[in-house]
Amino acid sequence: MGDESVLNVKCRILDLISELGDHEVQNIEEWITSQSYRKDLEQKRNLQRSEKQLIKIANTLRKIVPFEAEMTTEKIEPPTVGDQADCTKENTCHVDEFLYDDKHVDELVKSEKLTRFYCSQCNSRKTKELIFISHSMSRQALQYIFTVLLPKDLEDKKILDVGSRLGAVLYGAYYFSNASTIVGVEMNKELCEIQENVIKKYSMDANRIKVVHADIMERNDIVECSNIIIINVLDFFVDIEKHKDMWYFFKKHIKKGSYLVSNRSMADTLNSLDIYEDMIGWLNICKPNQIENEIFFDLEDYNELYLYTVN
Ligand SMILES: C[S@@+](CC[C@H](N)C(=O)[O-])C[C@H]1O[C@@H](n2cnc3c(N)ncnc32)[C@H](O)[C@@H]1O
Repeated sequence: MGDESVLNVKCRILDLISELGDHEVQNIEEWITSQSYRKDLEQKRNLQRSEKQLIKIANTLRKIVPFEAEMTTEKIEPPTVGDQADCTKENTCHVDEFLYDDKHVDELVKSEKLTRFYCSQCNSRKTKELIFISHSMSRQALQYIFTVLLPKDLEDKKILDVGSRLGAVLYGAYYFSNASTIVGVEMNKELCEIQENVIKKYSMDANRIKVVHADIMERNDIVECSNIIIINVLDFFVDIEKHKDMWYFFKKHIKKGSYLVSNRSMADTLNSLDIYEDMIGWLNICKPNQIENEIFFDLEDYNELYLYTVN
């Protein structure tokens, strides 16, 4: 980095701290002068190294799955209840966040490969904004789950991703945590094969990470021995009755003391299915275990991730 870039960085730092009060400036000063920022910097660089692996995997996946990352063997239907019930086939576009981050989406829009709007009346200028839906978690969400929400040491823990799809959560767990067992259960065979190919291509340790082709409700054995269960919103993949059955199944089989991570509040999910009352007292919302690492994240992006303990 030349003198000019250093000057640029100083200018950006000044811009940022000029918006702070005296007390906050003092806090930043102490962070720098006490050298504790060096530890944070080292950790940030480690995170960036792990993230690079996920970027490589996303590049591989983009070449093997269709643009919308949906398989012809899948049945994906807009839900009729919950906060995504406003999605229809016409107003919704599936853009997988693990494959396409915000910068990538901007580039796709610029090159007209993707549009953010649809015409609500043909040939008219009355356009509406499309709803972008991702069926995978983004790299940033995965980093947040493993470096802020969950405890640091997961060495003797078993992680289960319910409906592992392209494997985003599994790869996140592999590179951002030290969990000894990482299992994805996915009901679509084609998606399981894709995950297995990625695991092999990146020479991941097959004793640590694996994919099981099954309906989760047939694998209570896997649920019962897991300590951390990650569940991305399932609304597009199961009908209301099945969705309810799945939550009764989880309540019965997830063991006490486990963690449950979800990307929508459980109150919202259970209320939309009208089963909230039956689940009262089952879950406790929890504070992040590694709150000190929030320094690495823009928190506005992470208010949609929830950590619970199971009673
Ligand atoms: C929203 S995607 C989640 C992808 C992944 N967990 C992530 O967050 O990146 C939900 C996935 O769950 C799968 N799924 C839905 N119901 C399932 C069930 N009963 N058993 C196994 N997989 C299921 C779907 O096929 C779909 O791939």
